[in-house]
Amino acid sequence: MKFTSTTREIPEKRAVPRHIAIIMDGNGRWAKSRYLPRVAGHRRGVETVREVTRACAERGVEFLTLFAFSSENWNRPQEEVSLLRELFLRALEQEVEKMNRNGIRLRIVGEIAPFGEKICALAARAEEATASNKRLTLTIAANYGGRWDILQALEKLLRQEPRRRGPVTEEEFAPLLAMNYAPEPELFIRTGGEQRISNFLLWHLAYTELYFTQTLWPDFDALALEEAIAWFRARERRFGRTSEQLQDASPARPALSGAAQRLIDSA
Ligand code: IPE
Ligand code: IPE
Ligand code: MG
Repeated sequence: MKFTSTTREIPEKRAVPRHIAIIMDGNGRWAKSRYLPRVAGHRRGVETVREVTRACAERGVEFLTLFAFSSENWNRPQEEVSLLRELFLRALEQEVEKMNRNGIRLRIVGEIAPFGEKICALAARAEEATASNKRLTLTIAANYGGRWDILQALEKLLRQEPRRRGPVTEEEFAPLLAMNYAPEPELFIRTGGEQRISNFLLWHLAYTELYFTQTLWPDFDALALEEAIAWFRARERRFGRTSEQLQDASPARPALSGAAQRLIDSA
């Protein structure tokens, strides 16, 4: 994939984001409010994953990245960790056929070795079996951390060039990050009401539009996704420029200098 960076150039404007990244939060609270065990919320959360993946594919989103398990989630009670592991395993076993039917390519990012050999083997098999699908790339971030990603990229760079000195460019560094196959997300969504990044995609979210909703992940659906996309469409993405500069560059209007445009506007 051609390297593009939002700190360098303004990406093409789109009505529907090419890449959406989601922190799926609120499963536990969804279950608690129904006097159910937390795992019931995670189970319902898997259904939401199916619905949102389908909705994204139908809307023409090319990349959907879901935060399923953070590097800090190991600190949860052991019982919950092993139930989450179980759900991940079952999804890897059961969903591949459906993904192939729907043109979905699966990628897993994060350090999955601690989940055990069985999950590693299933993940490799699922990635391989769906590798040629073109409609939507679904990335599951599992035992992922934004800081881990930056550090593993740095380690790779030093391994490639142990005597490395001098400046490092984005062009060299970004391809070493785990999600080097996807453009930076245009839209980030966090369900569950918290307004934080929780060590998700730290590098990639530099100029991403951040959308926070109170809706708990098990209640999030195609309509809620549509609302988030409508909100995205109304944002003016400036990438450090001024509003006037963006209007000047818009393909709907001839590219004029700000001064020339103001002269025309005042005429
Ligand atoms: C998100 O829901 C799922 C994971 C982090 C695995 P939570 O389990 O964090 O739900 P809340 O935030 O406790 O409601
Ligand atoms: C973020 O949710 C991680 C995932 C959704 C996988 P958390 O529930 O772990 O985040 P914090 O602890 O509230 O920041
Ligand atoms: Mg949470």
